[in-house]
Amino acid sequence: MRKKIVAGNWKMNKTFAEGVELAREVNEYVRYKEGSEGVSIILGTPFIHLAKVAHNITEPSIAVSAQNCATEKAGAYTGEISADMVASTGAKYVILGHSERRSYYGETSEILVKKVAQALDSKLDIIFCVGEVLEEREGNKHFDVVKKQLTDGLFNLAAEQFAHIVIAYEPVWAIGTGKTATPDQAQEMHAFIRSVIAEKYGQAVADETSILYGGSCNAKNADEIFSKPDVDGGLIGGASLKAADFFEIIKSRARH
Ligand code: 13P
Repeated sequence: MRKKIVAGNWKMNKTFAEGVELAREVNEYVRYKEGSEGVSIILGTPFIHLAKVAHNITEPSIAVSAQNCATEKAGAYTGEISADMVASTGAKYVILGHSERRSYYGETSEILVKKVAQALDSKLDIIFCVGEVLEEREGNKHFDVVKKQLTDGLFNLAAEQFAHIVIAYEPVWAIGTGKTATPDQAQEMHAFIRSVIAEKYGQAVADETSILYGGSCNAKNADEIFSKPDVDGGLIGGASLKAADFFEIIKSRARH
């Protein structure tokens, strides 16, 4: 179902104690302060934090997400974490296809197809990331690149399965750079993504799909970005690491 979502991607930040404390603070903000009504909040923590954070959260609007999962179900894969393990912690989501995993860890669409299948098999919802690098945007290839990422990574799914997908559009040139896409650039790409989904699965499915923007989204620029009709929320990196800043972004989402 199309939802207003603000998701934090903590990436490789926060020790166990720090992460538990950050989640506690977010939970307190949502519980005691006004302004987050109608927003689904997701905390994308490192694997080792998942179980404790999922256990401690008391607010029904907050869910917990992993940032990755294995391509295989179980077995001799030293160091890997399966989707079943993620689900067993109480986490409800997994972020897949983040540009950092695509570029630093060689995650291809073939790999992502396997991870998506494992996550769905484990009843996890998926935040699936797409986005172009700067040269692709400058070469006016950004629409083709994003369409190919969607097609190759997701469009083997049946429509019922696709209902478990949230898309995050994260232009790589905007991630961690302080250079955000303009609200119009975000809207243009989000509308395009929705049209590509509509072509494949029909307008009703496209209208029900939540599409998040990610890339240097913060408390100052969130209002403008969230005011756009096809921007359903945000996937927040750096600004999700402080509860007060993250809560401001949640409030922005609630206002629009
Ligand atoms: P920043 O918000 O730090 O730019 O990171 C965005 C991101 O990659 C979220 O997944």
